[in-house]
Amino acid sequence: MCGIVAGIAERNVQDILLEGLRRLEYRGYDSAGIAVLDDACEIQRRRRVGKVVELSQALAREPLAGKAGIAHTRWATHGSPSEHNAHPHISTDRVAIVHNGIIENHAPMREELTRLGYEFLSETDTEVAAHRIAHYLDQGADLLQAVRRCVAELEGAYALAVIACDDPSRVVACRNGPPLVVGFGIGEHFVASDVQALLPVTQRFTFLENGEVVDLRRDGIDIYDREGRRVEREVRVSGLTAGAIDRGQYRHFMQKEIFEQPYAISETLEGRVREDRSIVPSILGVLAETVLPQVRAVQIVACGTSYHAGLIARYWMEEIAGIPCLVEVASEYRYRKHVVMADTLFLTLSQSGETADTLAAVEASREERYLARLAVCNVPESSLVRESELVLLTHAGPEIGVASTKAFTTQLVALMQVILILSQYRGVDEQRLRDLRGQLLQLPGLIERTLELDPAIMRMAERFVERGHALFLGRGAFYPVAMEGALKLKEISYIHAEAYPAGELKHGPLALVDADMPVIAVAPNNDMLEKLKSNLEEVRARGGELFVFAETGVALQNGPGMNVIEVPAGAGMLAPVLMTVPLQLLAYHTAVFKGTDVDQPRNLAKSVTVE
Ligand code: G6P
Repeated sequence: MCGIVAGIAERNVQDILLEGLRRLEYRGYDSAGIAVLDDACEIQRRRRVGKVVELSQALAREPLAGKAGIAHTRWATHGSPSEHNAHPHISTDRVAIVHNGIIENHAPMREELTRLGYEFLSETDTEVAAHRIAHYLDQGADLLQAVRRCVAELEGAYALAVIACDDPSRVVACRNGPPLVVGFGIGEHFVASDVQALLPVTQRFTFLENGEVVDLRRDGIDIYDREGRRVEREVRVSGLTAGAIDRGQYRHFMQKEIFEQPYAISETLEGRVREDRSIVPSILGVLAETVLPQVRAVQIVACGTSYHAGLIARYWMEEIAGIPCLVEVASEYRYRKHVVMADTLFLTLSQSGETADTLAAVEASREERYLARLAVCNVPESSLVRESELVLLTHAGPEIGVASTKAFTTQLVALMQVILILSQYRGVDEQRLRDLRGQLLQLPGLIERTLELDPAIMRMAERFVERGHALFLGRGAFYPVAMEGALKLKEISYIHAEAYPAGELKHGPLALVDADMPVIAVAPNNDMLEKLKSNLEEVRARGGELFVFAETGVALQNGPGMNVIEVPAGAGMLAPVLMTVPLQLLAYHTAVFKGTDVDQPRNLAKSVTVE
């Protein structure tokens, strides 16, 4: 939700900040802006509605020159996406600010600042912070003091970066909620919402903790905690390189990320299944061997696609490990009273590790009597990882497309690893566990073969372009697979799509079925197959057209109203992972045919750091 990049250098920072914005665009893309302090110590600003490319075209026509600057790409919360609401916001020509998050007490602050004579030029919550800082500068504070006094009054979530004409030798930034990373260069220092934004200029980073303020100067940085004490922070060298986010031969990041799944899954398995096919509990951290034998129940909490991974894991957890498992979306979990069973593990799933609702749920879980918090996450340096006692990383690599693909399938692989470890402690039949571990190891190869279905799925997708609605059906663990398929289709092709457990069809959605309502079903070759087939017949009998992804061996023939694509058999319990892949490709190709913005669909953002 909004991306921030800022810095101070011996050179013009315009292009560094602009490249940073391109790399942060996944966080929001309804408008973008940049402000620098020029040689005369005046603030120069450009803002444009739309994507970063609009801003870069404006800068090509009218470049900025300045050695300290701040920049922002926006996902609107307060005020529509317009130039006057775009960041940076300026107060009294002397302070410029960019903000990620929501300032909850902006209304009373706005009233007070209006009384003090400040003029508001936007509908944003951010502008109050700009004026407040200007107010403290007027009272004689330096920029660092002014920012610290301002943030002491702010309620809500914020990451801020500020420049001021009064104090041109520094950029001051702070965080409370949304992430902020500090990048160390030689004679230049930067902050950004994530490391990707700064990789072209440095690989040396440190992460700000909540409540901290950083004072960036050319010759060094200082970090202060909430009480104003200077804190020492270790500098880490990132293994990532700037090239890691190239699209390569692919047309879209989403397409690249779908095709990277065999590799991403192999990476997530690498070194975790031993030769005797056992999984070492310590991959979850040093506390694993103390905590995991005690687990008697699991509460999973996540958002969006990660929530769907949790729903699939529930079927596996109860069936394989015999451990009761609850799954809830984080935005609901955090505001509800719970009855927590004794010895329950609190398990969060998140690609980014920065989703505000998931982080708030972790915070809320501390009030309950959970055994421990385990995070399954794709970003090692994220807040979620730092706030969890146990961690299992997915090694999906950076995921840029807003619609999550490889992060989801690697989460499922990591979840199966957790379930297998828990099962090892619960005396589950060793042969069964060995078979499951074997299935895990076969998954990358099976996904390779499933990806070969791409041309056939593309032809199928052509038939969806004119459709306004679609129904997805599945049973058991394939019901959340259907949910994920429906989510992918609506996110990127804007076709209204709903998923139902196939057995529920007759309780309502069947009323919607006619020749204009495509029904997509996932048909594994399992003991529910005959039940599913009956559900599909109910659709055909009402003139509905079926599009079925059927495991090899499922006797379903192409014919009028029935379009079947065969998916390789052999994935066993992991078939939900495999079955997800054709649904991703179906959504992808439908969106391409429709000409939507596949990687940055309208109104969405990849990292949701506000409630
Ligand atoms: C946003 C993204 C989704 C993602 C969800 C949860 O809505 O667009 O793709 O599934 O956030 O994100 P997380 O990083 O916590 O998995």
